[in-house]
Amino acid sequence: EPDRFEAETAPATCEGSIDSNHAGYSGTGFCNGDNAVGSAAQFTVPAAEGGTATLDVRFANGAGARPANVIVNGTTVDTVSFESTGSWTTWSTTSLTVPLNAGGNTIRLDPTTATGLPNVDYIAVGPNA
Ligand code: GCU
Ligand code: CA
Repeated sequence: EPDRFEAETAPATCEGSIDSNHAGYSGTGFCNGDNAVGSAAQFTVPAAEGGTATLDVRFANGAGARPANVIVNGTTVDTVSFESTGSWTTWSTTSLTVPLNAGGNTIRLDPTTATGLPNVDYIAVGPNA
C-alpha cells in the first residue's frame, strides 16, 4: 500500500495557491501552481531504506501538455510530460520510478515551460522495488 502525500499538507509546498474549485481531488484541495517556469510543488517523503520506489502523481490538466522535471533531493532524475486530461475536473495518475535515500527525501515537480504545472492533487510513493 503506497503512502499518499497531499499537495495541500505541510511540509509539502506549492508555489501558487491551494485551491478546491475543481471537484474530484483527494483531501481538502490541490496545488494550483503559478503559470511559470519553476513554479514547483514539493513533497517530503520518508523512506525506511534507500532504493528505487514507484512514484504516482495525481493531477488534472484542462490545457495542453505541461512538462516538468522530477527533482529528488536536488538532482533531476526524470522528466514528465503531464498530458491534458481533457478538463480541470478530470483527474489522472501518471507513474514514475525514483531513487530514494533512507530517511527524508524531497521530491520536487518543477515545470519547464511558462504554462507551469498541471493542478497537482497528491503523490503516492510505493514500496521500494
Ligand atoms: C484555470 C484553472 C486553474 C488552473 C489554470 C492553469 O485557471 O481554473 O485551476 O490552474 O487554469 O492554466 O494553470
Ligand atoms: Ca495553474
